[in-house]
Amino acid sequence: MVVLGIESTAHTASVGVVDGSARVRSLATDMYRPAHGGIHPREAANHHAEVFPELVERALVSSGVDVTEIEAIAFSQGPGLGPCLRSGATVARTLAQAWEKPLVPVNHCVAHLEIARVLSGFRDPVLLYASGGNTQVVAFSNGRYRVLGETLDLGIGNFLDKLALSLGATFPGGPILEKWAREGRDVEALPYSVHGMDVSFSGLFTAARAAVARGIRKEDLALSVELTAYAMLCEIAERGLAHLGSRELVLGGGVACNARLRAMVEAMAAPRGIRVYSPPPSLCVDNGAMIAWNGILAHAGGITTEIEDSVVLPRQRTDQVDAPWRAGPSSGGEVSPP
Ligand code: ATP
Ligand code: FE2
Repeated sequence: MVVLGIESTAHTASVGVVDGSARVRSLATDMYRPAHGGIHPREAANHHAEVFPELVERALVSSGVDVTEIEAIAFSQGPGLGPCLRSGATVARTLAQAWEKPLVPVNHCVAHLEIARVLSGFRDPVLLYASGGNTQVVAFSNGRYRVLGETLDLGIGNFLDKLALSLGATFPGGPILEKWAREGRDVEALPYSVHGMDVSFSGLFTAARAAVARGIRKEDLALSVELTAYAMLCEIAERGLAHLGSRELVLGGGVACNARLRAMVEAMAAPRGIRVYSPPPSLCVDNGAMIAWNGILAHAGGITTEIEDSVVLPRQRTDQVDAPWRAGPSSGGEVSPP
């Protein structure tokens, strides 16, 4: 089985073609980069509408797959920015109609987990999902993926982007802060905000801005912010793993590209006998391949939508969608072979 997946939840328009053994046959991606400031949803949606025809063409040609071999068209139904989601859904509906293929709705957050799960070979991992808009610890239980903990305010990536922007960087700021942090020397104490299984970043943002006003070197600030924020993520991931008695952790989302976060997670996990897997950066950030792979699983699980019912769901939560491709009612499910 081969599925073509369309991703467009935020700044990234992407088309992936994936086969039933989770081999990424092709991936074509184009990211909207605002000239200044953060993402403007309407501008990003226009960007996506402009680049999608070329991305579909490129993904199809480089996959070497004939249209007749494509079993279904999958798309990100939510969560995300409404105008951006609608750009991608329109493309998916058009392809489904023109090529007479079933249309498969996919939850973007679950897709991050599933691509990491299949690449890791882990059976039932916990996901530390650290992206721009989302910061969650997720695990499967009783037919659905459940959010065990999450941010109470900003997503970690949005927090990093906002901070970097306020220091004169361009979007996305996470990789720029990472570069600065490598030159950091002196660590400043900043608010560490973990509430049970949840985290929050607004106090850290305010304190970081106050440190800037006091004249801290941006390299020292970046290092201090990374150490503080990533330690918070490690703590809730560790607690989630401990609650479940799980020994498997996967990372996903754009911030999972960060080398320091990966190293800190490893340092937390190794002494506890927890295995960690991080997908390659191209599959950590938003990408059409994870949507295609989740489309394969969902389609095998009997999930399709009629075009007239295929509305996008900007606020759809991880735990609002069934995962029928995971067998069994508890957390020990298997992937059904597509
Ligand atoms: P979602 O819809 O899942 O919330 P998203 O739209 O934020 O995803 P992603 O591509 O998953 O998109 O993540 C983008 C975020 O990742 C941005 O905030 C960016 O700054 C951050 N990021 C990317 N690379 C790094 C890095 N090396 N270090 C820290 N942050 C990074
Ligand atoms: Fe994402």
